[in-house]
Amino acid sequence: QQNKQAWPYPELVAHRGGGTLAPENTVAGFREGIRYGYRAAECDVKLSADKVCFLLHDDTVDRTSNGQGAAQGKTMAELSQLDAGGWKGGAFAGEALPTLANVAAYCLAQDMLLNIEIKPCPGRFEETGRLVAQEAARLWAGAAVPPLLSSFEIEALRAAQAAEPALPRAFLCEEIPADWRAILAELDCVALHCDHKTLTEPLARGIKAAGYQLLCYTVNDPADARRLLAWGVDSLCTDRLDLLPARG
Ligand code: G3P
Ligand code: MG
Repeated sequence: QQNKQAWPYPELVAHRGGGTLAPENTVAGFREGIRYGYRAAECDVKLSADKVCFLLHDDTVDRTSNGQGAAQGKTMAELSQLDAGGWKGGAFAGEALPTLANVAAYCLAQDMLLNIEIKPCPGRFEETGRLVAQEAARLWAGAAVPPLLSSFEIEALRAAQAAEPALPRAFLCEEIPADWRAILAELDCVALHCDHKTLTEPLARGIKAAGYQLLCYTVNDPADARRLLAWGVDSLCTDRLDLLPARG
């Protein structure tokens, strides 16, 4: 059924760079992933006021930096001044809020696979999907494995598909919608990413039988991890790199 080249999902993917062991969505997080032997990480990417792709989960910088206010109102020069590590402890003070280019350089140098979650600021779905896809294609041009693009926002995935059809895509959802087959087909996705709490074994088996890869987030309990892998789930996105050891 799938005509697109599948993305080589490892069994474990570090959530937001290095999970909860380091400040999320920073290079320090990715370093933690490497330290634990992880081969892949997920991160959240959005656009600054001057349309630079950068890493941040929330709409505002308040929770994960020493700044305040809406992220999309700030230029990359302003965002670069923020301390994105101090909130997580003194050892991380001064950690930069990275651009997608910063993280691409790190991942390519370390042979780390990246799942870029397109996380648009309110009202910027199409623009963010398009520009993140174009920037990802430019940064990973010639790389052995392209980054995987995922999003909760269908409009952002549609824009990414139109701009860079060759980059692999995954539809991200909390609860799997009844029309998942139609969504995955329309967006020509290689995979579905869902909240592990809402997945059932029949659904997991159905998605696998339809030829898609399946990732669950955010799996932090080793017993849940074993159960999901036994259901045929390909990959687990986790905050607890210390509890879920990478193999091989
Ligand atoms: O991509 C999986 C996961 O990151 C989705 O949830 O809120 O952590 O971005 P969130
Ligand atoms: Mg995410």
